[in-house]
Amino acid sequence: MQSIKKPLLFGNWKLNPPTLNEAKTLFRDTKKVAQKYPDLQIAVAVPTPFLSGVASLSVNNNLAVMAQDVWHTSTGAETGVVSVPMVKSCGASHTLIGHSEVRARGETNEQIAKKIYAVDKGKLTPVLCVGEQARDDEGQFYNTVTSQIIEAFAKVSKATVARSIIAYEPVWSIGTGHTPSEVEIEEMKLFIEKVLTENYGRNVAKKVSILYGGSVSAQNAGAIFHNSGVDGFLVGGASLRPDNFSTIAKKMSE
Ligand code: PGA
Repeated sequence: MQSIKKPLLFGNWKLNPPTLNEAKTLFRDTKKVAQKYPDLQIAVAVPTPFLSGVASLSVNNNLAVMAQDVWHTSTGAETGVVSVPMVKSCGASHTLIGHSEVRARGETNEQIAKKIYAVDKGKLTPVLCVGEQARDDEGQFYNTVTSQIIEAFAKVSKATVARSIIAYEPVWSIGTGHTPSEVEIEEMKLFIEKVLTENYGRNVAKKVSILYGGSVSAQNAGAIFHNSGVDGFLVGGASLRPDNFSTIAKKMSE
């Protein structure tokens, strides 16, 4: 089942690369991928210090710059975090929220809800990351994903949900080389659509793009994209390798 939404290829650079110059080089290479595949919407989540430096290089309509996280308040006594207006003024149009590596540092669904509220007020597009730590035979991991979605959107309207993106990233798959099967990814995509339909209505559910993330590679991207029905990918490690990122884009476009 192929989606009719514009395919999204999102990268997450995490704590890479080490310097602004290297970030600019990587971004220029990413820009070439965006130019070569205009039918894809590409975006990369870059470290905060590099946001404005790389955003100033982007002139492509199909290449956006994302923040990796934001704080839920805009000003005040909050050492070490960045706000929605700050990242927006540096050129970010989207931000990841609830990435498992942030959740692992103690972030709760309640804090994520506050961040989604702030992101909505500041008119950034939220990319909500959800996913289970491990799979169990009873299917409890589906309940985990349900609560991550419902609790994240607890403070915002249906209209905000409709303009959000959800990235399903099973924690056990991130950076490990292991992925769920294409059928398992399709089942989770359909499940997330069901959760959205039941809670926010069918019209909202239809608008939300659902991405898969976790060990997406040049080797597995084509089969996962074309067989699971996901609307695109959130790619970590392979987004740091322009050759791999370009191959993923090619496989999605085939
Ligand atoms: P990975 O990371 O592609 O390196 O597994 C994905 C992510 O954490 O977003």
